[in-house]
Amino acid sequence: MLNLNVNGRPHSVDAPDDMPLLWVIRDILGMTGTKFGCGIAQCGACTVHIDGEPTRSCITPVSDAAGRSVTTIEAIGETPAGKAIQTAWLGVEVVQCGYCQSGQIMSASALLAGNPKPTDADIDAAMSGNICRCGTYVRIREAIKQAANSVSAQ
Ligand code: FES
Ligand code: FES
Repeated sequence: MLNLNVNGRPHSVDAPDDMPLLWVIRDILGMTGTKFGCGIAQCGACTVHIDGEPTRSCITPVSDAAGRSVTTIEAIGETPAGKAIQTAWLGVEVVQCGYCQSGQIMSASALLAGNPKPTDADIDAAMSGNICRCGTYVRIREAIKQAANSVSAQ
């Protein structure tokens, strides 16, 4: 059994050490907000936070997350940065098909949590690993800036 902390709650999981964290989150814990895209760390759809760091859960063995703090899209709105990002996402109407957006929001929330006033270059660097087939990149950038303004105004 592996002991995981996901979204502030402890879970004992019966899974092989090398099972991808994404499978555990979706198939064992039943949290389906985190998406499977490529499975090879190329698209960002599966991004979660481990100890606050954006992490590709499709290539992360579940054993790497044991004893650490995992946050998924289901709970990112409970953090100040995540809440600001999700509010801005709605305000800017970022989403098109939506498939990539959990991962986009997780990467953007990690950026804002560590850097409340990101420059365009900071945004590009933080978001470059998150692919959007619908091409929502311009709105993503605008929403991150809007969220940064709302956080710095508090
Ligand atoms: S599914 Fe993990 S990076 Fe694409
Ligand atoms: S909103 Fe459709 S892939 Fe990004």
